[in-house]
Amino acid sequence: MTLLDELSRRVGDAFAAAGLDPQLGRVKPADRPDLAQFQCNGALPAAKIAKKNPRELATAIAENLSGDAAFSEVTVAGPGFINIKLSDDEIARRMNALSGAGDWKDTVAISPEKIVMDYGGPNVAKPLHVGHLRAAIIGESLKRIFRFLGNDVVGDVHLGDWGLPMGQLITELQREQPDLPYFDETIEGPYPDEPPVTLKDLERLYPQASAACKENEARADEARAATAALQKGRPGYRALWRHFVAVSRRAIEAEYDDLGVTFDLWKGEADADSLIAGMAAEMRQKNLIEDSDGAQVIRVAKDGDKKKIPPLMMFKSDGGVTYGTTDLATIVDRVQSESPDRILYVVDQRQSLHFEQVFRAAGLAGLFPAHRLEHIGFGTMNGKDGKPFKTREGGVLRLRELIDMMTERAGERIADSGLAKGYGEAETAEIARKVGIAALKFADLSNPRTSDYVFDIDRFMAFEGKTGPYLLYASVRVRSVLAKAEAAGAGAAGDIIIKAPEERDLALSLLAFGDAVYGAYDKRLPHLLCDHAFSLAQVFSKFYAACRISDEADARLRASRLSLAGLAGRQLDLILELLGLEAPERM
Ligand code: ARG
Repeated sequence: MTLLDELSRRVGDAFAAAGLDPQLGRVKPADRPDLAQFQCNGALPAAKIAKKNPRELATAIAENLSGDAAFSEVTVAGPGFINIKLSDDEIARRMNALSGAGDWKDTVAISPEKIVMDYGGPNVAKPLHVGHLRAAIIGESLKRIFRFLGNDVVGDVHLGDWGLPMGQLITELQREQPDLPYFDETIEGPYPDEPPVTLKDLERLYPQASAACKENEARADEARAATAALQKGRPGYRALWRHFVAVSRRAIEAEYDDLGVTFDLWKGEADADSLIAGMAAEMRQKNLIEDSDGAQVIRVAKDGDKKKIPPLMMFKSDGGVTYGTTDLATIVDRVQSESPDRILYVVDQRQSLHFEQVFRAAGLAGLFPAHRLEHIGFGTMNGKDGKPFKTREGGVLRLRELIDMMTERAGERIADSGLAKGYGEAETAEIARKVGIAALKFADLSNPRTSDYVFDIDRFMAFEGKTGPYLLYASVRVRSVLAKAEAAGAGAAGDIIIKAPEERDLALSLLAFGDAVYGAYDKRLPHLLCDHAFSLAQVFSKFYAACRISDEADARLRASRLSLAGLAGRQLDLILELLGLEAPERM
């Protein structure tokens, strides 16, 4: 249980003892930290229900709680707010439990689930764009948070490796290299192991093909025919397609790797293709599929819908399938191979209508309960012009280029601020890389997921304020404080005693971790954990400024502060891990 849950239960008991609904005893952090640590506002609604005076009720509850040694102060303020302070002994007791065998994980309890998380979605032959970047950063962090709390999470990249773009690529390559064995229908294989194209070729061929198809109907028909032949299994096309996927995947995987993002499964849209026919047959049996101007659709609108939800198109009039069909068949595949309790899609919120249609259709068809399919949408990262961010060359964002830009700027900032002096070239470069990526990832994560935000490299890179570099710096500093204490012969860490206000604030912040990580998990909002990390780093800084550690003369205080600092370091490192940030050894 988190601290707030525990306190709420205790205060709830006091409500129950006064004959009131214990649910009203919900405790939250105090709005006025100068007056209290925690507060409960439940006496106001309780008084309404019981038709009593709220201050009188609050006073009775406060009296009940005052008898509890865990609290040093329980007072009533204003119309009936209950203000609460934990006793220093209680805070110390909780801290000592954590510094012993305690595990931060034990501060939160959930019912673990088996989860498939879809947070990739890059497309073969196309570079990653901003939407893919945010999906990767947010998804990686959510995956880590979910796992930390005991869920069994399988991350799937879900490559966009199927459909018309593949036929476009095949036919474009045929124009350039008609003599390749893949195009000769008399050859059934084996085909060369070496790919006939490089990544550069693919990135050139695809835009070329897509432009040509837009301009010329006959050229587009050719691409459609090739797509159909590929999907029917023409051996040469399949072999060629496997090369396209492999070449793209190598490049995509390397970029994800640089970002510290990994996937357990490298499945793609193509993996669902063979399941479409069977799925559609079952849907027909359930009379879910209707004809609509030659196309076949599933109606997913419901009475009471606030906005119009159009039918999901299963088959176009030419028999081709859609993005929706593929996502439905992918659910079938995931159910068969993973039996998940829940499937999460970390995808740009501009796709929310698509997911609404897919989830409803999946529910209607009995593929998976709709309420266990979740679209975790996010806003865009914009340029200063308010449009989705682009790198200098214009066009789409290039992840490689973005990472290089962040690393370079981090290097400059590190040099300016006199950090990493005399560390040697390789180490300095490694620090710049970690700081650059942390700046990018933290800026993305600390922003509430559904809001858009502006790419502002100087703000992301600042060593002060709520930034990635500041957090890395804080974690490195705690480590260096502890190392210095050890070198100075400060002795061992020992029992925690809370006396100074800065010790109390640090301990209370450490105790707030459970609620922060639970909130990030429950609401799928990593920024709640970022907010906590920032305030923890700040209170540590105040603690360090106010309280001597290695040069504290009182051995018991010294040992206590070493423990507190050790806990702060451990928690900061854990949070960095959960956010997917890597701290250098020193900086
Ligand atoms: N490939 C898609 C795109 O680039 C994203 C796929 C997201 N995942 C999904 N299951 N639909 O927009």
